[in-house]
Amino acid sequence: MALSLAVTGLDAGYGAVKALRGVTLHVEAGETVALLGTNGNGKSTLMKCIAGLVRPQRGGLSLSIDGLAHDLARLTPEAIVDLGVALVPEGRRLFSKLTVSENLMLGAFRKAARRDIDRNLAFAYETFPVLKDRQRQLAGTLSGGQQQMLAIARALMSSPRLLLIDEPSVGLSPLLVSQTITKIGELNRRFGLTVLMAEQNFNQAIRIADRGYIIVHGEIVVAAGSVDELQDNDIVKRLYLGGVA
Ligand SMILES: Nc1ncnc2c1ncn2[C@@H]1O[C@H](COP(=O)(O)OP(=O)(O)OP(=O)(O)O)[C@@H](O)[C@H]1O
Ligand SMILES: [Mg+2]
Repeated sequence: MALSLAVTGLDAGYGAVKALRGVTLHVEAGETVALLGTNGNGKSTLMKCIAGLVRPQRGGLSLSIDGLAHDLARLTPEAIVDLGVALVPEGRRLFSKLTVSENLMLGAFRKAARRDIDRNLAFAYETFPVLKDRQRQLAGTLSGGQQQMLAIARALMSSPRLLLIDEPSVGLSPLLVSQTITKIGELNRRFGLTVLMAEQNFNQAIRIADRGYIIVHGEIVVAAGSVDELQDNDIVKRLYLGGVA
């Protein structure tokens, strides 16, 4: 499956607030790409633009599938899900009064996904066995780590090819962060999912990323072709590694 996402010169914002300025990045099939940035720099806004939840003011958002280009800026969020793009939103956004399995079913609300419910459910439970054990537990009573697993599993229910994961580490203990990131790495390696992951946790994100971008004040300030290149970058050293640049 040939898939690639190209974001070019993207501007987006909220009223007078400019959140993205000329953002250009790309993600190719099979990659895990990290979008690194600290609070308020535009990571979620970019994820929401790709998912169709925030409309860009300028620039291009193109998803190419088997040579056919789709202009995401013109599509509804539902149509973008149908193309195989799933967002795991920041803060999980689960239905806390519904059970684990009910939350998973809500991930399969699109017609295309309903066909594959059995297969996707088996896949989600195989990936996160703890969710299978707790199918009937209310989502709000799961631990933070389990809730993050459920949010990712719910996204898997829509048969995604491109998974957008917005800050999976937020609110988790170091051990759970590490486990969650490892799982995301597995989804990519074992099942060929293409992943764009927004993170503040540099050291965890680069454990599984092939390469990454740094976003500061809505602008991509570093586009590194490899993790080594990221670690060697002076801006990265200053922002994340405590070095003097
Ligand atoms: N709905 C909104 N209305 C107004 N301003 C917003 C809205 N959402 C985000 N912003 C602003 O846009 C900028 C980028 O926010 P965004 O949520 O994209 O950053 P982020 O990198 O995801 O931050 P965090 O790591 O805290 O999640 C910030 O200045 C933020 O205050
Ligand atoms: Mg965010």
